[in-house]
Amino acid sequence: MTDLSKLEADLSALITGAADVADLEAVRVAALGKSGSISDLLKTLGAMSPDERREQGPAINGLRDRIGGAIADRRAELEAAELDAKLAAERVDLTLPPPPERRGRVHPTMQVQDEMIAIFAEMGFGLAEGPDIEDDFHNFTALNFPPKHPARETHDTFWLPEDASGERKVLRTHTSPVQIRAMQRINEKLPSWIANGPPSANGEPPIRIIVPGRTYRSDSDATHSPMFHQIEGLVIDRAIHMGHLKWTLDQFIARFFETPLVETRFRPHHFPFTEPSAEMDVRCDRSGGDIKIGQGDDWLEILGCGMVHPKVLRNCGLDPDVWQGFAFGCGIDRLGMLKYGIPDVRDTFASDVRWLDHYGFSAFAAPNPATGLS
Ligand code: PHE
Repeated sequence: MTDLSKLEADLSALITGAADVADLEAVRVAALGKSGSISDLLKTLGAMSPDERREQGPAINGLRDRIGGAIADRRAELEAAELDAKLAAERVDLTLPPPPERRGRVHPTMQVQDEMIAIFAEMGFGLAEGPDIEDDFHNFTALNFPPKHPARETHDTFWLPEDASGERKVLRTHTSPVQIRAMQRINEKLPSWIANGPPSANGEPPIRIIVPGRTYRSDSDATHSPMFHQIEGLVIDRAIHMGHLKWTLDQFIARFFETPLVETRFRPHHFPFTEPSAEMDVRCDRSGGDIKIGQGDDWLEILGCGMVHPKVLRNCGLDPDVWQGFAFGCGIDRLGMLKYGIPDVRDTFASDVRWLDHYGFSAFAAPNPATGLS
């Protein structure tokens, strides 16, 4: 056997015997690598006489090509075998049930807010929003709070530090400043409206909006949180009166508490921005520990309301002899506590997932037949 055929036989045996791709790679390096046995033979060609080279050249090159080919074939074989082994070992069992997954819950405050928005939307109210950081004008002055008047203090206002212009902004103490913003907006459009007749939709006159949002007062106990949520209602049109206010709120209460019409009463009250002003109570029964809405001999205060004060209309450039309106404002968290039996409002902001699992709502529940909401 010549040296070349012995080398070929040895290498072929090693190639066939390689157990895996790494083994085979070692054989390749030993034969065809930089100082592999075949590479070394190729290097000897340069020093040969032309006759020798004519004989040895094709023999060595042929050997290199056959060994290279054999390695490639064996590599394909080994790779296919490795893939088969992997597929057999890592088979996915599609019949296994999926592992349990955590599902988020809808926060009760957001659920209640959505319920309220849906009820008012069906009555034709649009949605308006305003900033959490308000100026004194929108939060107080335009709403007819006299300067330095104690009413400003009753709101336990969070004042922000003076800004560069010397102004102190506030964290809005109620959603009523958005009334002012809405009326100012329509006032800008009023001249063209008076000239051309009323446009019919999109926050233009007549105004019929609700304003849900965060509000802030420095107060904390089981029924008060420094941040809470209110929903404000505002209707401005010609010839609006208390009857419209009462009807709207009666409808809302019945839909919200999912009861037939509930008896309500309006107790005279004072808000600087409404005249007359009232607090609305609903009939309830507290005898059993729980509060039952719509029955019994007790009354429960639900919200503040009234007819928009002529001075407020004037502050927004509206003539009170042409325009009237009503407004109301109520606590979203508070009504949620009542409807869903939540004992301490501070828990609603404690970010405790266990609490949310208990009081939260499924995002995928079937629609409630009374409200049409899920
Ligand atoms: N803004 C009042 C409050 O926060 C509620 C209210 C709104 C009263 C609109 C009358 C009209 O107490």
